[in-house]
This record gives sequence, structure tokens and C-alpha cells, in this order.
Amino acid sequence: MAQQKAAIAPAKGKLGILVPGMGAVASTFMVGVEAVRKGLGAPIGSLTQMGRIRLGKRTENRNPLIKEFVSLANLEDIEFGGWDLFPDSCYEVAKKNHVIFGDLLEKVKEETHAIKPWKAVFDPNYVTRLSGDYVKTGSSKMDLAKQLMDDMAQFKAEKNLDRMVMVWCGSTEAYLQPGAVHETIESFEKGLKENHPDIAPSMIYAYAAIKMGVPYANGAPNLTVDTPALIALAKENGVPISGKDFKTGQTLMKTILAPGLKSRLLGTEGWFSMNILGNRDGEVLEAPENFKTKEESKLSVLEHILQPDLYPELYKDLVHKVRINYYPPRGDNKESWDNIDIFGWLNYKMQIKVNFLCKDSILAAPIVLDLALFSDFAQRSGFSGIQEWLSFYYKSPQTAPGLYPEHDIFIQLMKLKNTLRDTQGEDLITHLGREYYD
Ligand SMILES: NC(=O)c1ccc[n+]([C@@H]2O[C@H](COP(=O)([O-])OP(=O)(O)OC[C@H]3O[C@@H](n4cnc5c(N)ncnc54)[C@H](O)[C@@H]3O)[C@@H](O)[C@H]2O)c1
Repeated sequence: MAQQKAAIAPAKGKLGILVPGMGAVASTFMVGVEAVRKGLGAPIGSLTQMGRIRLGKRTENRNPLIKEFVSLANLEDIEFGGWDLFPDSCYEVAKKNHVIFGDLLEKVKEETHAIKPWKAVFDPNYVTRLSGDYVKTGSSKMDLAKQLMDDMAQFKAEKNLDRMVMVWCGSTEAYLQPGAVHETIESFEKGLKENHPDIAPSMIYAYAAIKMGVPYANGAPNLTVDTPALIALAKENGVPISGKDFKTGQTLMKTILAPGLKSRLLGTEGWFSMNILGNRDGEVLEAPENFKTKEESKLSVLEHILQPDLYPELYKDLVHKVRINYYPPRGDNKESWDNIDIFGWLNYKMQIKVNFLCKDSILAAPIVLDLALFSDFAQRSGFSGIQEWLSFYYKSPQTAPGLYPEHDIFIQLMKLKNTLRDTQGEDLITHLGREYYD
């Protein structure tokens, strides 16, 4: 039975997309949106721009575009803002990282050169491989959070924005586990005032966003909003949050392949994943404390898809290793190799080799756009706190405490689309399909 259509505020006026970290991903995203607006390219990979959603029975032939089915901000109504510890404009960043180049970049030079970052909140203890002097100074972490809020308020007024969202595209920070300071809103705010060392820069941005009622999506594997304090603050302020770590490249392949192997009950005894990449992200990930953050996020995927507890004969002894090597000649053109040792009927062994030559930021850019538009939609729909339906976009989806994340990309997509159907009072699709045969 169809549900009641939820009351959703319309996407009127302009939406500001705020991006801490104007590097390869952020610039590819912004240049791309400007190019699409000018009709110079297609937003391939973006569900909000190109995806359709089936409604009702298969015989009804109702498959509208998602952006026509639910109210999303138009690309024409988007303004960009961002922070970085280097002062380069979006155009200059794009020019340096060579993801989008030549004629296409020059055709959006004027618009993208006008996107200049604000000074960053940065702490070299969390990213040892980077040093830049385009950073804010303040009397405490709370003071820095207030400076970020001032940037946002000024941006909102200058651009005459109706709403804002924040998508973290900054570097991966050093590994951090939740501690007492992250436990409650009070302990966190005390920590901000007293400069607690376990409050990472990404948390200061997230705190500033949530305090301003701005949804926050976490594109890196950083802990950030995955703490009781910031979850509680998001609920209290009616702010949707989600994370962690954009699902692109090798992990995207893994979450496509692993559910397939599992569905046919093929055993897996080893999955060795190797990467070479030469962008700044690769440089940052060379530091062991930053790689540890990424490794945790990448390793979590298989365990939850394959469920070794339920299928010990097939997956209990799985050896899963992930290696990332910084190799400058490759720039953003990452190459990954996966060797998968599987076994079938009567334990006969087989191997699968995957060699993916991808462009990391080309895969990440549409995710930034979708997360921004869907986070804004979530807020207008009255959703707050953790948005599990956005798991589709993440390597290490944030879920309620005690709940394991759903990593199977096909289940994630069904969850996302059913959430959209639910908001519009449409029947959820269960794929039961018995009615066609009655
Ligand atoms: N490219 C992908 O496919 C992909 C996939 C998953 C996750 N990610 C994550 O997305 C993030 C961005 O990736 P990228 O390839 O654009 O990296 P990048 O190194 O090109 O860009 C990151 C930018 O963040 C800036 N930065 C670092 N700390 C900051 C701070 N505290 N405040 C403001 N700016 C800060 C850096 O100066 C840099 O310009 C990384 O954390 C990466 O791990 C990327």
C-alpha cells in the first residue's frame, strides 16, 4: 500500500555547496558542474542527474528521472564555497592536477577561477605530509569553529543563498579512535574550548556546519561525525549527516563483485588488493597514520558482505590485504590490481584478476554532487542524524551504534530508491512479483 506523501519543503532559491579541501576531487566536481551547466559535458555517474526510478508495477511503465520525481536543487541554483591551506583558485587547482584539462577547462576558466578558498582550519599533526600557510589562527578550537561559521554566514549573505550543505573533500586525517571528549555535546564543546588534541580539524568543520544547521557528508575515512557527540548535535539541530569515504575505484569493484560471489556461494580464501596512484591523496596516504585510517575503511567491506560468521566454510579463513603505493608519474590515473582466490564445488580452486585503470576524481565527482543534493533533500524532508540510505556512496557507511553497515551495493541502491519512493507516498518495491502470475 502506498504511504502518505511526506511534507517536503520545495528546493526554492539557491543552494551553497561548501567543500573543506579544494583538491583533485573538489575541483573536478566544480569544474564538471560548470561544464554541465554550459552544455559542454554530461553528468555521467550521477544518480541525481541521470538516474531513473521505477514506480509501481512493471506493467505500468513509470520510470521518471529521479530529479523529476523528488524535488532536488537545480544545477543552475548552486554556488560553491570552500577552504584549503593553499590559496589556489579552483581553476588553478584543476590546471595543476590534470584531471580535466585543455579546451574544456579553459571554457570554464572564468567561473572556476572565481572560486577561491577561504583559509583552512588545519593541524599538521593530522596530516604530516602537507604544509601550507593559508590557515586560520585562533585562541582555541572553539574560536576556529566560530571563524568557519563566520565564513559560512558571509557566503550565505553575499550569494543570497537559501540553504547550504557541506561535503568534506579534504585529506585523510591520521587515525583516531573515539574517546571521552567525543562522548557528549558538553564534553566536545569543553574540548573545543580547551584545545583537546583528539579534536581533529574535520570535526571543527563538522561542528561549525551542524551548529549552523548545515548537513554534513564525509568523503574521507576520517572519524569526524561518527561520534556520539556530533550525532547527538545533528539530531538536536535537525541536520542530516552521513559518511564515510567515497566509494570509488577498487572498493566500488569489490562491492560489485563480492555480493555476486556470495550470492552463488562461491568460497573466497584470499583477496589481495594493490594500488598505485600519484596525486596528493596518494602522497598523504604514504604516512602510516593516515594510511591506517584508509585501510580500516577499505578492509571493513568484505567482512560485512561475505558474513564469515554465517558461512564459516566459505569465508572464515579469508586473507584480505590492501596496499596503496604512492607513485607520482601516475597522477590521478590510479591503477589497481586485485587477485581473488576463490573455490567452488568440492573445493576446486580458481582465480579472478581485476585490473582497473581508473581516474579517481572522475569517479568521485558525481558522488560529491549526489551527496550534496540528497543531503539537502533529506533536510527539506525533515530527516536528521545518520542517513543510512546514503550508504550507496560510501566505503564505510555510517550506521546507528551497534548496527552493522550494509555494504552490498545492490542492497544499498534498493534502500536509497525505496527511501525516495517512501517520501513520495509510492509503493516500496519488494521484487516479490507474484501478482503478475495470479
Ligand atoms: N578520489 C577518490 O576517488 C576518493 C575516494 C574516496 C575518498 N577520497 C578522499 O577524498 C579526499 C580528497 O581526495 P583528493 O584526491 O581530492 O585529495 P587532494 O589531496 O587532491 O585534496 C585534498 C585537499 O584537502 C586540503 N586539506 C587538507 N586538510 C585540510 C583542512 N583541514 N582544511 C581544508 N583543506 C584541507 C589539501 O590541501 C588538498 O588540497 C581525500 O581524503 C581522499 O582520501 C577520494
